[in-house]
Amino acid sequence: MRKIIVTIDGYSSCGKSTLAKKLASKLHYKYIDSGAMYRAITLYFLRNRIDWNDNAEVDNAISNIELHFEVNPDTKQSEIFLNGENVEYVIRDLVVAEKVSEVAAVKEVRTFAVAAQQKLGDAKGIVMDGRDIGTTVFPNAELKIFLQADPAIRVTRRFKELHEKNPAVTIEEVKHNLEMRDYIDSNREISPLRKADDAIILDNSDLTQEETLNKAYDLVLAMKTKPHKA
Ligand code: CDP
Repeated sequence: MRKIIVTIDGYSSCGKSTLAKKLASKLHYKYIDSGAMYRAITLYFLRNRIDWNDNAEVDNAISNIELHFEVNPDTKQSEIFLNGENVEYVIRDLVVAEKVSEVAAVKEVRTFAVAAQQKLGDAKGIVMDGRDIGTTVFPNAELKIFLQADPAIRVTRRFKELHEKNPAVTIEEVKHNLEMRDYIDSNREISPLRKADDAIILDNSDLTQEETLNKAYDLVLAMKTKPHKA
């Protein structure tokens, strides 16, 4: 069957990457976590004390950043590398999450990340999740999903994830971080988070991961069996 591009956008912690990973694996497609790219750039900026409000500094820093994904042979999951270092785990820290939305609002950062994302989609057969994938990165994607979940459920899910790794994390911190990122992501000037007009809303507040996957898979099948557009 022909390969397509599937985009999954939505607010923080609504289960985009969980769904995207499972869907990609079921379809034997590549999975790309676009948020990991913004997180890795943020990590680089924090480590190197880059002032992201200074255009020249940002341009110079970006020219020193190389990002790529590799599939971990043990877990079969795609992991992100920053200048050759596996940063898949360190970028999930709240220290990075506290700054990532500010960094992701910078024009030069988005130009760099979007170009890299578009290149990864050249051969189709890809599931990519993020905030602007259906609107800006792949406006012609064959299937666009806008994933939603109740805000309280999103906070609980992310708290569980972070608390397992770091018991010092509080639910208030996580709630504040999600609210702040959703606000900045939705209100920034360039490619703000919004549902693409042709995206299909999928609300997983009351669905298990398996049920969410099945619904998304049905959407893919329905799309693939549709006659080609001229
Ligand atoms: O996992 P979660 O949904 O909380 O976030 P993420 O996908 O790891 O993305 C982290 C941050 O990167 C978001 O809050 C956005 O600020 C930014 N981002 C973006 O601007 N555009 C994307 N396509 C993906 C992420």
